Amino acid sequence: MMKRFWEKWRKGWGAALACAGVLLAGPAVSAETHESPEMRWWQTAPVYQIYPRSFADTTGDGIWDIPGITRHLDHIRRLGAKAIWLTPVYPSPMVDNGYDIADYTAIDPVYGTMADFDRLVAAAKDRDIRIVMDLVFNHSSDRNAWFLESRQSRTNPKADWYIWRDAKPDGSAPTNWRSIFGGSAWTWCEERGQYYLHTFSPQQPDLNWENPAVRRALYDAARFWLDKGVGGFRIDAIPYIKNPAFRDGTPDGADGLVSIHTMTANTPGILDFLHEFKAEVFAGRDIFTVGEANGVHPEDLPQWVGENGVFDMVFEFSHMGLALKDGEIWCHPTPWKLTELKAALTATQEATKENGWCPVFFENHDQPRSVNHFFPPGADREKAAKAMATVLLTLRGTPFIYEGQELGYSNVAWPSIDDYNDISSHGQYKIALEEGFSPEKAMTFVHFFSRDNARTPMQWDNGRNAGFTTGKPWLPVHKDYARQNTAVEERDRGSILAWYRQLAGLRQRHRALTEGSCEMLLPSDEQVFAFARTRGQDRLLTVVNFSLEEAPLPESLTAGKKLVMGSEGPGERTRLRPLEARIYEAIE
Ligand code: GLC
Repeated sequence: MMKRFWEKWRKGWGAALACAGVLLAGPAVSAETHESPEMRWWQTAPVYQIYPRSFADTTGDGIWDIPGITRHLDHIRRLGAKAIWLTPVYPSPMVDNGYDIADYTAIDPVYGTMADFDRLVAAAKDRDIRIVMDLVFNHSSDRNAWFLESRQSRTNPKADWYIWRDAKPDGSAPTNWRSIFGGSAWTWCEERGQYYLHTFSPQQPDLNWENPAVRRALYDAARFWLDKGVGGFRIDAIPYIKNPAFRDGTPDGADGLVSIHTMTANTPGILDFLHEFKAEVFAGRDIFTVGEANGVHPEDLPQWVGENGVFDMVFEFSHMGLALKDGEIWCHPTPWKLTELKAALTATQEATKENGWCPVFFENHDQPRSVNHFFPPGADREKAAKAMATVLLTLRGTPFIYEGQELGYSNVAWPSIDDYNDISSHGQYKIALEEGFSPEKAMTFVHFFSRDNARTPMQWDNGRNAGFTTGKPWLPVHKDYARQNTAVEERDRGSILAWYRQLAGLRQRHRALTEGSCEMLLPSDEQVFAFARTRGQDRLLTVVNFSLEEAPLPESLTAGKKLVMGSEGPGERTRLRPLEARIYEAIE
Protein backbone atom coordinates (compact mmCIF):
# COMPACT_ATOMS: atom_id res chain seq x y z
CA MET A 1 0.00 0.00 0.00
CA MET A 2 2.66 2.48 1.17
CA LYS A 3 4.85 1.33 -1.64
CA ARG A 4 2.24 2.15 -4.23
CA PHE A 5 1.74 5.58 -2.70
CA TRP A 6 5.42 6.36 -3.00
CA GLU A 7 5.53 5.04 -6.53
CA LYS A 8 2.82 7.55 -7.49
CA TRP A 9 4.47 10.28 -5.47
CA ARG A 10 7.79 9.79 -7.15
CA LYS A 11 6.30 9.81 -10.63
CA GLY A 12 4.20 12.90 -9.91
CA TRP A 13 5.03 15.43 -7.24
CA GLY A 14 8.37 13.88 -6.43
CA ALA A 15 9.68 14.63 -9.89
CA ALA A 16 8.35 18.17 -9.75
CA LEU A 17 10.02 18.77 -6.44
CA ALA A 18 13.29 17.51 -7.78
CA CYS A 19 15.50 20.12 -6.26
CA ALA A 20 17.44 17.73 -4.04
CA GLY A 21 18.08 14.01 -4.07
CA VAL A 22 16.50 13.53 -0.68
CA LEU A 23 13.14 14.61 -2.04
CA LEU A 24 13.28 12.00 -4.73
CA ALA A 25 14.08 9.10 -2.54
CA GLY A 26 10.82 8.44 -0.73
CA PRO A 27 10.74 7.58 2.95
CA ALA A 28 13.81 6.39 4.80
CA VAL A 29 13.68 3.08 6.62
CA SER A 30 10.15 1.90 7.31
CA ALA A 31 8.77 -1.15 8.99
CA GLU A 32 7.82 -2.43 5.55
CA THR A 33 10.52 -4.75 4.26
CA HIS A 34 10.45 -7.38 1.61
CA GLU A 35 11.19 -10.94 2.55
CA SER A 36 12.10 -13.34 -0.14
CA PRO A 37 12.02 -17.07 0.39
CA GLU A 38 15.33 -17.42 -1.44
CA MET A 39 17.16 -14.81 0.61
CA ARG A 40 18.38 -15.11 4.18
CA TRP A 41 17.86 -12.26 6.66
CA TRP A 42 21.54 -11.32 6.67
CA GLN A 43 21.63 -10.93 2.90
CA THR A 44 18.99 -8.25 2.62
CA ALA A 45 19.97 -5.80 5.37
CA PRO A 46 23.14 -3.97 6.38
CA VAL A 47 25.32 -5.00 9.31
CA TYR A 48 26.51 -2.25 11.64
CA GLN A 49 29.96 -2.66 13.20
CA ILE A 50 30.75 -1.34 16.67
CA TYR A 51 34.29 -0.92 17.96
CA PRO A 52 34.52 -1.92 21.62
CA ARG A 53 35.99 1.17 23.17
CA SER A 54 34.48 3.99 21.18
CA PHE A 55 30.71 3.81 20.90
CA ALA A 56 29.01 5.27 23.98
CA ASP A 57 30.07 5.37 27.60
CA THR A 58 27.41 5.34 30.33
CA THR A 59 29.73 5.03 33.35
CA GLY A 60 32.04 7.99 32.80
CA ASP A 61 35.22 5.88 32.65
CA GLY A 62 35.98 7.13 29.14
CA ILE A 63 35.45 3.71 27.58
CA TRP A 64 32.40 2.45 25.76
CA ASP A 65 30.14 -0.03 27.52
CA ILE A 66 27.36 -2.43 26.64
CA PRO A 67 24.51 -0.31 28.08
CA GLY A 68 25.82 2.44 25.77
CA ILE A 69 24.85 0.34 22.77
CA THR A 70 21.48 -0.58 24.21
CA ARG A 71 20.82 3.15 24.55
CA HIS A 72 21.59 3.82 20.89
CA LEU A 73 19.92 0.84 19.24
CA ASP A 74 17.42 3.04 17.44
CA HIS A 75 20.22 4.89 15.67
CA ILE A 76 21.32 1.55 14.25
CA ARG A 77 17.80 0.40 13.42
CA ARG A 78 17.18 3.57 11.42
CA LEU A 79 20.02 2.56 9.13
CA GLY A 80 18.08 -0.57 8.28
CA ALA A 81 20.65 -2.83 9.99
CA LYS A 82 19.56 -6.25 11.19
CA ALA A 83 22.82 -7.20 12.85
CA ILE A 84 25.48 -5.56 14.98
CA TRP A 85 28.98 -6.95 14.77
CA LEU A 86 30.52 -6.32 18.12
CA THR A 87 34.29 -6.40 18.08
CA PRO A 88 35.70 -8.34 21.07
CA VAL A 89 34.18 -7.65 24.49
CA TYR A 90 35.79 -10.55 26.33
CA PRO A 91 38.17 -10.12 29.28
CA SER A 92 41.47 -8.94 27.89
CA PRO A 93 44.65 -7.14 28.93
CA MET A 94 43.83 -4.89 25.92
CA VAL A 95 47.27 -4.96 24.33
CA ASP A 96 45.36 -5.07 21.04
CA ASN A 97 42.11 -3.65 22.46
CA GLY A 98 40.37 -6.97 22.98
CA TYR A 99 41.89 -8.98 20.14
CA ASP A 100 43.98 -10.59 22.89
CA ILE A 101 41.42 -12.68 24.74
CA ALA A 102 42.04 -13.91 28.27
CA ASP A 103 38.71 -15.71 28.66
CA TYR A 104 36.52 -16.72 25.72
CA THR A 105 33.25 -17.07 27.63
CA ALA A 106 33.00 -13.93 29.75
CA ILE A 107 32.58 -10.16 29.39
CA ASP A 108 35.34 -7.75 30.36
CA PRO A 109 34.14 -5.74 33.39
CA VAL A 110 35.21 -2.54 31.66
CA TYR A 111 32.35 -3.10 29.20
CA GLY A 112 29.75 -4.32 31.69
CA THR A 113 28.40 -7.63 32.89
CA MET A 114 26.98 -10.76 31.32
CA ALA A 115 23.55 -9.50 32.43
CA ASP A 116 24.17 -6.30 30.42
CA PHE A 117 25.05 -8.46 27.46
CA ASP A 118 21.89 -10.55 27.82
CA ARG A 119 19.84 -7.35 28.05
CA LEU A 120 21.47 -6.06 24.89
CA VAL A 121 20.68 -9.26 22.99
CA ALA A 122 17.04 -9.02 24.12
CA ALA A 123 16.67 -5.27 23.41
CA ALA A 124 18.22 -5.73 19.98
CA LYS A 125 15.92 -8.68 19.27
CA ASP A 126 12.92 -6.47 20.05
CA ARG A 127 14.06 -4.30 17.15
CA ASP A 128 14.76 -7.28 14.90
CA ILE A 129 18.51 -6.82 15.27
CA ARG A 130 20.90 -9.64 16.16
CA ILE A 131 24.24 -9.44 17.88
CA VAL A 132 27.23 -10.92 16.08
CA MET A 133 30.32 -11.84 18.08
CA ASP A 134 33.94 -11.63 17.02
CA LEU A 135 35.76 -14.96 17.39
CA VAL A 136 39.50 -14.47 17.76
CA PHE A 137 40.59 -18.07 17.38
CA ASN A 138 43.96 -17.79 15.67
CA HIS A 139 45.54 -16.63 18.93
CA SER A 140 44.68 -15.84 22.54
CA SER A 141 46.18 -13.43 25.04
CA ASP A 142 49.38 -14.48 26.78
CA ARG A 143 47.35 -13.97 29.99
CA ASN A 144 44.85 -16.64 28.96
CA ALA A 145 44.90 -19.57 31.44
CA TRP A 146 45.60 -21.93 28.52
CA PHE A 147 48.82 -20.12 27.65
CA LEU A 148 49.88 -19.62 31.27
CA GLU A 149 49.74 -23.40 31.64
CA SER A 150 51.27 -24.16 28.26
CA ARG A 151 54.32 -22.02 28.89
CA GLN A 152 55.23 -23.74 32.17
CA SER A 153 56.89 -26.88 30.77
CA ARG A 154 57.18 -29.11 27.73
CA THR A 155 55.12 -31.81 29.40
CA ASN A 156 52.08 -30.15 31.00
CA PRO A 157 48.56 -31.07 29.73
CA LYS A 158 48.42 -27.93 27.56
CA ALA A 159 52.06 -28.12 26.43
CA ASP A 160 50.95 -28.54 22.84
CA TRP A 161 48.15 -25.93 22.79
CA TYR A 162 50.38 -23.23 21.25
CA ILE A 163 53.11 -23.33 18.62
CA TRP A 164 56.41 -24.03 20.31
CA ARG A 165 59.67 -24.59 18.46
CA ASP A 166 63.33 -25.00 19.38
CA ALA A 167 65.83 -22.28 18.53
CA LYS A 168 68.11 -22.61 15.51
CA PRO A 169 71.53 -24.04 16.42
CA ASP A 170 72.87 -20.49 16.87
CA GLY A 171 70.08 -19.73 19.36
CA SER A 172 68.13 -17.48 17.01
CA ALA A 173 64.41 -17.70 16.24
CA PRO A 174 63.18 -20.81 14.35
CA THR A 175 62.41 -18.75 11.21
CA ASN A 176 63.01 -15.22 9.96
CA TRP A 177 59.33 -14.21 9.98
CA ARG A 178 58.20 -10.69 10.85
CA SER A 179 54.97 -10.45 12.84
CA ILE A 180 52.18 -8.32 11.41
CA PHE A 181 52.77 -5.64 14.04
CA GLY A 182 56.55 -5.60 13.40
CA GLY A 183 59.52 -7.42 14.97
CA SER A 184 60.14 -11.17 15.00
CA ALA A 185 57.09 -13.44 15.03
CA TRP A 186 58.85 -15.62 17.66
CA THR A 187 59.36 -14.84 21.34
CA TRP A 188 61.66 -16.76 23.65
CA CYS A 189 60.23 -18.43 26.76
CA GLU A 190 62.73 -19.15 29.55
CA GLU A 191 60.64 -21.79 31.33
CA ARG A 192 60.42 -24.04 28.28
CA GLY A 193 63.70 -23.03 26.65
CA GLN A 194 61.75 -22.63 23.41
CA TYR A 195 60.24 -19.99 21.17
CA TYR A 196 56.50 -19.54 20.62
CA LEU A 197 54.91 -18.18 17.47
CA HIS A 198 52.75 -15.06 17.34
CA THR A 199 51.38 -13.77 14.04
CA PHE A 200 50.61 -10.48 15.82
CA SER A 201 52.18 -9.14 19.05
CA PRO A 202 54.18 -11.25 21.55
CA GLN A 203 51.15 -10.93 23.85
CA GLN A 204 49.02 -12.77 21.25
CA PRO A 205 50.45 -16.32 21.04
CA ASP A 206 49.09 -18.43 18.17
CA LEU A 207 46.90 -21.38 19.14
CA ASN A 208 47.84 -24.77 17.76
CA TRP A 209 44.88 -25.83 15.61
CA GLU A 210 46.68 -29.09 14.77
CA ASN A 211 45.77 -30.24 18.27
CA PRO A 212 42.16 -31.59 18.35
CA ALA A 213 41.77 -30.61 22.02
CA VAL A 214 42.38 -26.96 21.09
CA ARG A 215 39.80 -27.11 18.34
CA ARG A 216 37.26 -28.69 20.68
CA ALA A 217 37.80 -25.95 23.28
CA LEU A 218 37.33 -23.25 20.66
CA TYR A 219 34.16 -24.84 19.28
CA ASP A 220 32.78 -25.04 22.83
CA ALA A 221 33.44 -21.31 23.29
CA ALA A 222 31.57 -20.48 20.07
CA ARG A 223 28.63 -22.68 21.14
CA PHE A 224 28.50 -20.84 24.47
CA TRP A 225 27.58 -17.64 22.58
CA LEU A 226 25.14 -19.43 20.29
CA ASP A 227 23.31 -20.63 23.38
CA LYS A 228 22.98 -16.97 24.38
CA GLY A 229 21.12 -16.28 21.16
CA VAL A 230 23.72 -14.46 19.08
CA GLY A 231 23.04 -14.08 15.38
CA GLY A 232 26.42 -15.05 14.03
CA PHE A 233 30.15 -14.64 14.08
CA ARG A 234 32.86 -12.61 12.47
CA ILE A 235 35.91 -14.86 12.57
CA ASP A 236 39.18 -13.01 13.06
CA ALA A 237 42.45 -13.57 11.19
CA ILE A 238 41.34 -17.03 10.15
CA PRO A 239 43.77 -17.68 7.23
CA TYR A 240 46.66 -18.07 9.68
CA ILE A 241 45.43 -21.10 11.65
CA LYS A 242 47.10 -23.88 9.67
CA ASN A 243 50.71 -24.63 10.50
CA PRO A 244 52.85 -24.13 7.41
CA ALA A 245 56.34 -25.51 6.75
CA PHE A 246 58.60 -23.76 9.22
CA ARG A 247 61.27 -22.40 6.87
CA ASP A 248 62.98 -19.07 6.25
CA GLY A 249 61.72 -16.77 3.50
CA THR A 250 63.48 -14.16 1.38
CA PRO A 251 63.78 -10.98 3.47
CA ASP A 252 61.54 -8.15 2.28
CA GLY A 253 62.58 -5.30 4.57
CA ALA A 254 65.54 -3.55 6.17
CA ASP A 255 65.13 -5.71 9.30
CA GLY A 256 66.20 -8.84 7.37
CA LEU A 257 62.83 -10.47 8.05
CA VAL A 258 59.99 -11.58 5.79
CA SER A 259 56.31 -10.83 6.37
CA ILE A 260 54.68 -13.78 8.16
CA HIS A 261 51.60 -13.13 6.06
CA THR A 262 53.39 -14.19 2.89
CA MET A 263 54.65 -17.38 4.56
CA THR A 264 51.56 -18.62 6.37
CA ALA A 265 48.29 -17.14 5.05
CA ASN A 266 45.88 -19.67 3.55
CA THR A 267 48.18 -22.69 3.91
CA PRO A 268 46.91 -25.84 2.13
CA GLY A 269 44.90 -28.03 4.49
CA ILE A 270 43.26 -25.08 6.24
CA LEU A 271 39.88 -25.88 4.70
CA ASP A 272 39.78 -29.28 6.44
CA PHE A 273 39.86 -27.50 9.78
CA LEU A 274 37.26 -25.01 8.67
CA HIS A 275 34.86 -27.68 7.38
CA GLU A 276 35.09 -29.34 10.75
CA PHE A 277 34.47 -25.97 12.47
CA LYS A 278 31.38 -25.42 10.30
CA ALA A 279 29.99 -28.91 10.90
CA GLU A 280 30.57 -28.74 14.65
CA VAL A 281 29.35 -25.21 15.29
CA PHE A 282 27.47 -23.41 12.51
CA ALA A 283 25.72 -25.96 10.33
CA GLY A 284 21.93 -25.88 10.39
CA ARG A 285 21.69 -22.73 12.53
CA ASP A 286 19.89 -19.52 11.57
CA ILE A 287 23.02 -17.43 11.89
CA PHE A 288 25.64 -16.05 9.55
CA THR A 289 29.40 -16.32 9.52
CA VAL A 290 31.90 -13.95 7.97
CA GLY A 291 35.58 -14.79 8.00
CA GLU A 292 38.27 -12.13 8.02
CA ALA A 293 40.37 -13.59 5.26
CA ASN A 294 43.27 -11.42 4.23
CA GLY A 295 45.25 -13.64 1.88
CA VAL A 296 42.23 -15.44 0.47
CA HIS A 297 41.77 -14.19 -3.08
CA PRO A 298 38.73 -14.00 -5.38
CA GLU A 299 39.79 -17.21 -7.13
CA ASP A 300 39.72 -19.02 -3.76
CA LEU A 301 36.21 -17.84 -2.88
CA PRO A 302 34.28 -20.80 -4.35
CA GLN A 303 35.97 -23.01 -1.77
CA TRP A 304 35.40 -20.58 1.07
CA VAL A 305 31.79 -19.48 0.61
CA GLY A 306 28.58 -20.82 -0.86
CA GLU A 307 27.17 -24.31 -0.71
CA ASN A 308 30.50 -26.09 -0.59
CA GLY A 309 32.33 -23.40 1.28
CA VAL A 310 33.00 -22.95 4.97
CA PHE A 311 31.54 -19.50 5.73
CA ASP A 312 28.55 -17.51 4.50
CA MET A 313 30.83 -14.63 3.53
CA VAL A 314 34.46 -13.66 3.79
CA PHE A 315 36.08 -10.25 4.00
CA GLU A 316 38.42 -10.40 1.04
CA PHE A 317 40.83 -7.47 1.05
CA SER A 318 42.06 -6.92 -2.49
CA HIS A 319 40.10 -3.65 -2.82
CA MET A 320 41.26 -2.43 0.60
CA GLY A 321 44.96 -3.10 0.06
CA LEU A 322 45.46 -1.28 -3.25
CA ALA A 323 47.90 1.16 -1.65
CA LEU A 324 49.87 -1.71 -0.07
CA LYS A 325 50.92 -3.83 -3.00
CA ASP A 326 54.16 -4.80 -1.28
CA GLY A 327 52.33 -6.54 1.53
CA GLU A 328 51.75 -5.33 5.00
CA ILE A 329 54.47 -2.68 5.33
CA TRP A 330 53.00 0.82 5.41
CA CYS A 331 56.09 2.69 4.34
CA HIS A 332 55.96 1.23 0.83
CA PRO A 333 52.66 2.79 -0.30
CA THR A 334 51.82 2.55 -3.99
CA PRO A 335 49.55 4.89 -5.96
CA TRP A 336 46.44 3.19 -7.28
CA LYS A 337 43.68 3.94 -9.78
CA LEU A 338 39.89 3.79 -9.71
CA THR A 339 39.98 1.11 -12.43
CA GLU A 340 41.93 -1.11 -10.01
CA LEU A 341 39.36 -0.59 -7.28
CA LYS A 342 36.60 -1.49 -9.71
CA ALA A 343 38.50 -4.54 -10.99
CA ALA A 344 39.06 -5.81 -7.45
CA LEU A 345 35.39 -5.45 -6.54
CA THR A 346 34.33 -6.99 -9.85
CA ALA A 347 36.50 -10.04 -9.16
CA THR A 348 34.74 -10.60 -5.83
CA GLN A 349 31.34 -10.06 -7.41
CA GLU A 350 32.09 -12.51 -10.21
CA ALA A 351 33.47 -15.15 -7.87
CA THR A 352 30.29 -15.11 -5.78
CA LYS A 353 27.78 -14.54 -8.57
CA GLU A 354 26.46 -18.06 -9.04
CA ASN A 355 27.23 -19.52 -5.68
CA GLY A 356 27.97 -17.67 -2.49
CA TRP A 357 27.61 -14.20 -1.16
CA CYS A 358 29.91 -11.33 -0.27
CA PRO A 359 30.11 -8.51 2.22
CA VAL A 360 30.51 -4.97 0.87
CA PHE A 361 32.80 -2.88 3.04
CA PHE A 362 35.04 0.14 2.74
CA GLU A 363 35.80 0.74 6.41
CA ASN A 364 36.37 -1.16 9.60
CA HIS A 365 38.36 -0.71 12.80
CA ASP A 366 41.66 -1.54 11.03
CA GLN A 367 41.34 0.80 8.07
CA PRO A 368 41.62 4.53 7.37
CA ARG A 369 38.32 6.37 7.03
CA SER A 370 36.94 5.88 3.52
CA VAL A 371 36.66 9.58 2.70
CA ASN A 372 40.45 9.73 3.01
CA HIS A 373 41.17 6.24 1.70
CA PHE A 374 39.29 6.20 -1.59
CA PHE A 375 39.16 9.85 -2.71
CA PRO A 376 41.85 12.30 -3.82
CA PRO A 377 43.38 14.56 -1.15
CA GLY A 378 41.27 17.71 -0.83
CA ALA A 379 37.99 15.92 -1.59
CA ASP A 380 34.97 17.51 0.06
CA ARG A 381 34.23 15.26 3.02
CA GLU A 382 30.46 15.36 2.78
CA LYS A 383 30.35 14.71 -0.94
CA ALA A 384 32.90 11.90 -0.67
CA ALA A 385 31.00 10.27 2.21
CA LYS A 386 27.75 10.31 0.21
CA ALA A 387 29.54 8.95 -2.85
CA MET A 388 30.98 6.07 -0.81
CA ALA A 389 27.64 5.38 0.86
CA THR A 390 25.95 5.13 -2.52
CA VAL A 391 28.31 2.40 -3.67
CA LEU A 392 28.20 0.66 -0.29
CA LEU A 393 24.43 0.41 -0.15
CA THR A 394 23.67 -0.36 -3.78
CA LEU A 395 26.37 -2.87 -4.76
CA ARG A 396 25.43 -6.57 -4.55
CA GLY A 397 26.19 -8.08 -1.14
CA THR A 398 25.65 -7.38 2.54
CA PRO A 399 26.76 -3.82 3.35
CA PHE A 400 28.86 -3.41 6.48
CA ILE A 401 28.57 0.10 7.92
CA TYR A 402 31.34 0.92 10.38
CA GLU A 403 30.46 3.24 13.28
CA GLY A 404 30.88 6.87 12.27
CA GLN A 405 30.92 6.08 8.55
CA GLU A 406 27.24 7.07 8.45
CA LEU A 407 28.28 10.50 9.74
CA GLY A 408 31.20 10.87 7.36
CA TYR A 409 34.05 10.73 9.86
CA SER A 410 37.51 11.50 8.52
CA ASN A 411 41.07 10.58 9.58
CA VAL A 412 42.86 12.26 12.46
CA ALA A 413 46.43 13.58 12.27
CA TRP A 414 47.93 13.85 15.73
CA PRO A 415 51.39 15.41 15.94
CA SER A 416 53.39 12.73 17.75
CA ILE A 417 53.54 8.93 17.63
CA ASP A 418 53.05 9.06 21.41
CA ASP A 419 49.53 10.39 20.79
CA TYR A 420 48.62 7.06 19.17
CA ASN A 421 47.29 4.04 21.06
CA ASP A 422 47.24 1.51 18.18
CA ILE A 423 49.93 -1.13 18.62
CA SER A 424 50.28 -1.53 14.87
CA SER A 425 50.93 2.21 14.35
CA HIS A 426 53.86 2.00 16.76
CA GLY A 427 55.26 -1.08 15.02
CA GLN A 428 54.95 0.44 11.55
CA TYR A 429 56.46 3.75 12.68
CA LYS A 430 59.48 1.84 13.96
CA ILE A 431 59.78 -0.05 10.67
CA ALA A 432 59.67 3.25 8.76
CA LEU A 433 62.53 4.66 10.86
CA GLU A 434 64.55 1.44 10.38
CA GLU A 435 64.03 1.79 6.65
CA GLY A 436 65.66 5.24 6.80
CA PHE A 437 62.62 7.54 6.72
CA SER A 438 62.73 10.72 8.81
CA PRO A 439 60.38 10.92 11.83
CA GLU A 440 58.33 13.54 9.93
CA LYS A 441 57.91 11.27 6.92
CA ALA A 442 57.15 8.30 9.16
CA MET A 443 54.36 10.35 10.75
CA THR A 444 52.78 10.93 7.34
CA PHE A 445 52.38 7.14 7.03
CA VAL A 446 50.87 7.00 10.50
CA HIS A 447 48.48 9.81 9.60
CA PHE A 448 47.22 7.91 6.61
CA PHE A 449 47.23 4.29 7.75
CA SER A 450 46.87 4.33 11.54
CA ARG A 451 44.02 2.23 12.82
CA ASP A 452 43.30 4.97 15.37
CA ASN A 453 41.80 6.95 12.46
CA ALA A 454 38.80 4.67 12.79
CA ARG A 455 38.83 4.34 16.55
CA THR A 456 38.11 7.84 17.85
CA PRO A 457 34.96 8.05 19.98
CA MET A 458 31.53 8.33 18.40
CA GLN A 459 30.27 11.91 18.20
CA TRP A 460 26.71 12.07 19.46
CA ASP A 461 26.29 15.81 19.99
CA ASN A 462 28.33 18.99 20.26
CA GLY A 463 28.50 18.94 24.04
CA ARG A 464 31.49 17.94 26.14
CA ASN A 465 33.46 15.06 24.55
CA ALA A 466 30.84 14.95 21.80
CA GLY A 467 28.41 13.26 24.20
CA PHE A 468 30.57 10.12 24.21
CA THR A 469 31.53 10.24 27.88
CA THR A 470 31.30 12.46 30.93
CA GLY A 471 34.85 11.37 31.82
CA LYS A 472 38.09 11.52 29.87
CA PRO A 473 37.77 9.65 26.56
CA TRP A 474 40.33 6.88 26.07
CA LEU A 475 41.27 8.44 22.68
CA PRO A 476 40.75 12.13 21.88
CA VAL A 477 37.47 13.05 20.20
CA HIS A 478 37.91 14.17 16.57
CA LYS A 479 38.58 17.91 16.36
CA ASP A 480 35.65 18.45 13.98
CA TYR A 481 33.06 16.91 16.28
CA ALA A 482 31.02 20.11 16.65
CA ARG A 483 30.12 19.91 12.94
CA GLN A 484 30.08 16.16 12.57
CA ASN A 485 27.79 14.57 15.09
CA THR A 486 24.56 12.67 15.20
CA ALA A 487 22.47 15.47 16.75
CA VAL A 488 23.52 17.99 14.08
CA GLU A 489 23.07 15.53 11.21
CA GLU A 490 19.68 14.38 12.54
CA ARG A 491 18.35 17.90 12.05
CA ASP A 492 19.74 18.37 8.55
CA ARG A 493 17.78 16.76 5.73
CA GLY A 494 20.78 17.11 3.45
CA SER A 495 23.25 15.47 5.87
CA ILE A 496 25.31 12.36 5.32
CA LEU A 497 23.22 10.56 7.93
CA ALA A 498 20.04 11.51 6.08
CA TRP A 499 21.61 10.21 2.88
CA TYR A 500 22.37 6.85 4.55
CA ARG A 501 18.81 6.58 5.79
CA GLN A 502 17.44 7.38 2.33
CA LEU A 503 19.66 4.71 0.82
CA ALA A 504 18.60 2.20 3.44
CA GLY A 505 14.97 2.98 2.58
CA LEU A 506 15.66 2.58 -1.13
CA ARG A 507 17.19 -0.85 -0.48
CA GLN A 508 14.06 -1.89 1.34
CA ARG A 509 11.83 -0.88 -1.54
CA HIS A 510 13.86 -2.29 -4.42
CA ARG A 511 14.53 -5.99 -4.54
CA ALA A 512 16.93 -5.31 -7.38
CA LEU A 513 19.29 -3.81 -4.78
CA THR A 514 19.22 -6.79 -2.47
CA GLU A 515 18.53 -9.73 -4.75
CA GLY A 516 19.26 -8.46 -8.22
CA SER A 517 22.16 -9.26 -10.48
CA CYS A 518 25.04 -6.80 -10.65
CA GLU A 519 26.61 -5.71 -13.89
CA MET A 520 29.71 -3.57 -13.64
CA LEU A 521 29.81 -0.82 -16.27
CA LEU A 522 32.51 1.50 -17.64
CA PRO A 523 35.38 -0.72 -16.38
CA SER A 524 38.10 1.44 -17.95
CA ASP A 525 36.72 4.81 -16.82
CA GLU A 526 39.10 6.42 -14.29
CA GLN A 527 36.47 8.81 -12.90
CA VAL A 528 33.12 7.08 -12.76
CA PHE A 529 32.09 3.98 -10.84
CA ALA A 530 28.96 2.62 -12.52
CA PHE A 531 26.93 -0.54 -12.19
CA ALA A 532 23.44 -1.83 -12.88
CA ARG A 533 21.26 -3.90 -10.55
CA THR A 534 18.45 -5.89 -12.09
CA ARG A 535 15.68 -8.12 -10.85
CA GLY A 536 12.98 -8.65 -13.46
CA GLN A 537 11.49 -5.27 -14.27
CA ASP A 538 13.16 -3.64 -11.29
CA ARG A 539 16.30 -2.08 -12.75
CA LEU A 540 18.54 0.48 -11.07
CA LEU A 541 21.69 2.19 -12.18
CA THR A 542 24.32 3.65 -9.84
CA VAL A 543 26.80 6.23 -11.16
CA VAL A 544 29.36 7.84 -8.88
CA ASN A 545 32.09 10.30 -9.78
CA PHE A 546 35.16 9.53 -7.63
CA SER A 547 37.18 12.44 -9.02
CA LEU A 548 37.41 16.14 -8.24
CA GLU A 549 36.60 17.08 -11.86
CA GLU A 550 33.38 16.90 -13.81
CA ALA A 551 32.99 13.55 -15.53
CA PRO A 552 31.22 12.78 -18.80
CA LEU A 553 28.52 10.11 -18.75
CA PRO A 554 27.68 8.20 -21.93
CA GLU A 555 24.18 9.22 -23.03
CA SER A 556 23.18 5.60 -23.57
CA LEU A 557 23.68 4.86 -19.88
CA THR A 558 20.86 7.00 -18.54
CA ALA A 559 18.54 6.85 -21.57
CA GLY A 560 15.07 5.58 -20.60
CA LYS A 561 15.76 6.06 -16.91
CA LYS A 562 14.64 8.50 -14.29
CA LEU A 563 16.61 9.86 -11.36
CA VAL A 564 15.58 8.47 -7.98
CA MET A 565 18.39 9.80 -5.81
CA GLY A 566 21.03 12.42 -6.56
CA SER A 567 23.53 13.68 -4.02
CA GLU A 568 23.62 17.06 -5.76
CA GLY A 569 20.01 17.15 -6.91
CA PRO A 570 19.15 16.81 -10.61
CA GLY A 571 21.78 17.75 -13.15
CA GLU A 572 22.75 17.22 -16.76
CA ARG A 573 22.23 13.60 -17.78
CA THR A 574 25.51 13.48 -19.65
CA ARG A 575 27.82 14.68 -16.90
CA LEU A 576 28.44 14.20 -13.24
CA ARG A 577 29.69 16.97 -10.98
CA PRO A 578 32.80 16.29 -8.85
CA LEU A 579 32.08 13.49 -6.32
CA GLU A 580 28.44 13.37 -7.37
CA ALA A 581 26.43 10.18 -6.85
CA ARG A 582 23.18 9.36 -8.61
CA ILE A 583 20.81 6.43 -8.78
CA TYR A 584 18.51 6.02 -11.75
CA GLU A 585 15.57 3.71 -12.23
CA ALA A 586 14.56 2.22 -15.56
CA ILE A 587 11.14 3.33 -16.77
CA GLU A 588 9.15 0.41 -18.15
C1 GLC B 1 42.31 -8.72 12.93
C2 GLC B 1 41.60 -7.60 13.66
C3 GLC B 1 42.62 -6.63 14.17
C4 GLC B 1 43.51 -7.35 15.14
C5 GLC B 1 44.13 -8.60 14.50
C6 GLC B 1 44.70 -9.49 15.54
O1 GLC B 1 42.95 -8.29 11.81
O2 GLC B 1 40.67 -7.01 12.81
O3 GLC B 1 42.06 -5.51 14.77
O4 GLC B 1 44.55 -6.50 15.55
O5 GLC B 1 43.17 -9.37 13.82
O6 GLC B 1 43.69 -10.13 16.24
